[in-house]
Amino acid sequence: MNSCLLVPVVVLLFFSAVNGQGNGAVRLNVNGGSLPTYTQGVVEVYYNSEWGPICDRYAYGSFGNIPSVVCHQLGYTGGYSGSTSSYLSTSPVIYDVSCSSNSLVILQCTHFSSPPSTCYSSDNVEVTCYSTRIWDSPYTGMVRLQNGYYSGQGMVQVYCNGQWGVVCNSASFDSYAATTVCTQLGYNDQSDYSSTSFTGTAWLDNVDCYYESCLSQCSGGSCPSSSVYCSSAANVTCSYNTGSSRYGSTRYTCGGGLTAGAIVGIVIGALVAFFICVVLIITIPICVCCCLGIGIGAAAGGTRRTTVAYSNMA
Ligand SMILES: *[C@@H]1O[C@H](CO)[C@@H](O)[C@H](O)[C@H]1NC(C)=O
Repeated sequence: MNSCLLVPVVVLLFFSAVNGQGNGAVRLNVNGGSLPTYTQGVVEVYYNSEWGPICDRYAYGSFGNIPSVVCHQLGYTGGYSGSTSSYLSTSPVIYDVSCSSNSLVILQCTHFSSPPSTCYSSDNVEVTCYSTRIWDSPYTGMVRLQNGYYSGQGMVQVYCNGQWGVVCNSASFDSYAATTVCTQLGYNDQSDYSSTSFTGTAWLDNVDCYYESCLSQCSGGSCPSSSVYCSSAANVTCSYNTGSSRYGSTRYTCGGGLTAGAIVGIVIGALVAFFICVVLIITIPICVCCCLGIGIGAAAGGTRRTTVAYSNMA
């Protein structure tokens, strides 16, 4: 009887512990409990198949860009360090994390994964996220994952023509397309892709990717002028593979600010405009001179011809 009960309990525990999250997923813990919806708490990272806090030994209460990156990964516009008044007894999974302000997910930040000799619970990172969502000020081609249990999973949506719409699940939406969606979100890999039941209109269908960093760079991935009918949407679970040489996109890679490509475009545009101006400045006076010259020449020639005519007559 006891062993019969044990099997479903173990199976249940296994699934409740796993929940389909990818490596590098984050959640916030309050008094030992974690829900993906929490906006304040001790940061827990899913790393090498286990959840654990961050140990930031040299932060002394100031965690740099970590709160901003963690909150961004959770879908909020930013956040600030909490008080570390509540901390976790579980072993940390990453150590001495240092984030750039452009990072989108925690494992893009430099970190160590082998434990230092000392690590205190007070070295855990606690954050409070702002309540504004990153998709409240979207850019054309922005992607988000909706209705997933964790922030790095769910139905794929893209922002086109002023509205959010789904990305249809088609035969070409494969692991490469899922990886591109995840890369745009800052991850560098996917741990699962499937379809989710959906009926309605979608922005994109037949998206076909191959190592692109942004969905808009894939075949069929840029915003169309009109929507298409769709009967099943793409659903992905993102992960961060620390062994991969691929680096997830940062805040300005795919839009939402001036990208390196846009800056190069502006510089090239300015140079071309300058060149055209110089050409015009040089050619317009020459043209005017030519025209004047031809006019004067014609007038002079006319006079000469007249003279000749008269002299012939004489
Ligand atoms: C999306 O995929 C995940 C992982 O396979 C799964 O747990 C989840 O139920 C799917 N979501 C929907 C809405 O189908």
